[in-house]
Amino acid sequence: MCGIVAYIGHREACPIILKGLRRLEYRGYDSAGVALLNGNLNVYKKKGKVSDLENFLSDKDTHSTIGMGHTRWATHGEPNDSNAHPHYSNSSRIAIIHNGIIENYSTLKTLLQSKGYTFYSDTDTEVFINLIENIQDENNCKLDEAVRLALHEVVGAYAIVVLSKDEPNQLIAARKGSPLVIGVGQDEYFLASDATPIIEYTNNVVYVNDYEIAIIKDGELNIKTREDIPTTPYVQTLALELDSIEKGGYDHFMLKEIFEQPRSIHDSMRGRLIAAQNHLIMGGFREFENKFVNAKRIIIVACGTSWHAGLVAEYLIEDLARIPVEVEYASEFRYRNPIITEDDIVIAISQSGETADTLAAIELAKQKGATIFGICNVVGSSIARASHAGAYTHAGPEIGVASTKAFTAQVTVLTLLAMIIGSKRGTIETSKLRSLMIELENIPSKVEQALEMHDKVIEIAEELKDATNALYLGRGYNFPVALEGALKLKEISYIHAEGYPAAEMKHGPIALIDENMPVIVIATKDSSYEKIVSNIQEVKARKGRIIAIVTEGDKVIPAMAEHVIEVPATSEYLVPLLSVIPLQLLSYHIAVMRGCNVDQPRNLAKSVTVE
Ligand code: AGP
Ligand code: GLU
Repeated sequence: MCGIVAYIGHREACPIILKGLRRLEYRGYDSAGVALLNGNLNVYKKKGKVSDLENFLSDKDTHSTIGMGHTRWATHGEPNDSNAHPHYSNSSRIAIIHNGIIENYSTLKTLLQSKGYTFYSDTDTEVFINLIENIQDENNCKLDEAVRLALHEVVGAYAIVVLSKDEPNQLIAARKGSPLVIGVGQDEYFLASDATPIIEYTNNVVYVNDYEIAIIKDGELNIKTREDIPTTPYVQTLALELDSIEKGGYDHFMLKEIFEQPRSIHDSMRGRLIAAQNHLIMGGFREFENKFVNAKRIIIVACGTSWHAGLVAEYLIEDLARIPVEVEYASEFRYRNPIITEDDIVIAISQSGETADTLAAIELAKQKGATIFGICNVVGSSIARASHAGAYTHAGPEIGVASTKAFTAQVTVLTLLAMIIGSKRGTIETSKLRSLMIELENIPSKVEQALEMHDKVIEIAEELKDATNALYLGRGYNFPVALEGALKLKEISYIHAEGYPAAEMKHGPIALIDENMPVIVIATKDSSYEKIVSNIQEVKARKGRIIAIVTEGDKVIPAMAEHVIEVPATSEYLVPLLSVIPLQLLSYHIAVMRGCNVDQPRNLAKSVTVE
């Protein structure tokens, strides 16, 4: 969940590292630090943001061509200066930065303390570096061998970089369960948690795999496994462009990403849907087509917003492909001792592709023989590579912690998947399939229209910004959208919000309704429209404040609601792609009006790579 950056080459390392950390701050921002090798091994670190670290460095000796940096999201030990990374070993001759969790750190710490080691932080990471030092001392071996042996002792997830004062032209890195990318430049190498700090220098990257160790020494990159078996680095060329990760003139990444959705939804269909040519395919699906066509059950595992996309998929796949679907919180699924057979297909949905719970859930399912289909946004991510097959959402980098374009891209890919499975199983009439293909191609332009309600949303946000609670109601395909709208509001504005099936109100939550309770009702024209009109009446009878998302031209609900936001008409199957848009904008503007840090909300991080 943190961000790691390292550099070894011919340029000044510190500026490169600090710029890279700023690009990775969305991954965690409790504290930041650098280690620079220039004869000495100097560690500078502080609680706070990268900008605080930069101020701290202004009068320090930062000259070096080899170094590493870390921006932290704490898992062991509160955010403070001593728990910040990098961490020295006891002798201060080696230092480490680490993304992940060492689960057996307590046992190792006790063992090392019995050998006379002292600890100056509460972190698991400091145990890791002292374990490496102890192994090096007891085996009288080089650093890369000590790191390799230590990887056999630790249990948990890590992406680490280790530097040694005694081996000055070298940088060691290793990973298991946390991401690590190496940028290959001209006589220089860049390491980072993802490609964003790297691509302004090189598009040639190597994704380090689990249990691999990278040794960069005297201008050469060598990779070997934890079992000391050399592997050939596979260099890929990334198509990412730098401006795709800049804010593009918007105040926040989140707003940029909301407005990118017409393009990102289009990109998620690119090459997969061409209605005019009756072209509907998905690369990763072909190899497992029979598995899907004959599946007795599909299990979807995900977290957060991705879990909401999974709920939409449940309606889609059961409606269009007539296969039973179960949607599971990955964190519960992985520990529930679930019944999984070889006939099961598990769809893992993850924007980052690094969510620890989702990764663990699919590893469990894989061990039990299930076929894993991963739907990720980050190319080369751990979940993508742990899946048997899959489909990238191609939404482009999503920097804002609150997921927006990734959600609609996930729903688009899941819609395509449901349509493909349905057509292969013969559970969709041809005419219905064709009209869905045509309508899905129209969705990007309809999202453009939905975004035109921006000013109306700002007006409503002005009225809701001081609310202390909010209820989101939806039925059918709009029920997951109600959950997603509530999550957006609470995670960036810190207003408590709940999403509910509209009909469920009668079973308790209606007791919450009074003139102070904003109730956002997603009431687009669909098969349950009359029912939700009745639900609105129930809320109104108790003086609830109704804000309704309606299909453009609706004449009934505007007479009942305090505010309405119109979205274009579309097929019931596709409505989540439109009804979520005003909810994203509403949460964004309320959060901005409340002075919240929209792109980096408190306590959160973009990728939860620890459990
Ligand atoms: C959504 O806005 C949140 N940032 C969070 O719920 C997120 O969806 C969740 O952590 C899952 O992340 P993933 O899609 O990268 O696996
Ligand atoms: N477990 C380490 C710590 O708490 C690293 C956490 C992270 O990945 O940021 O410092």
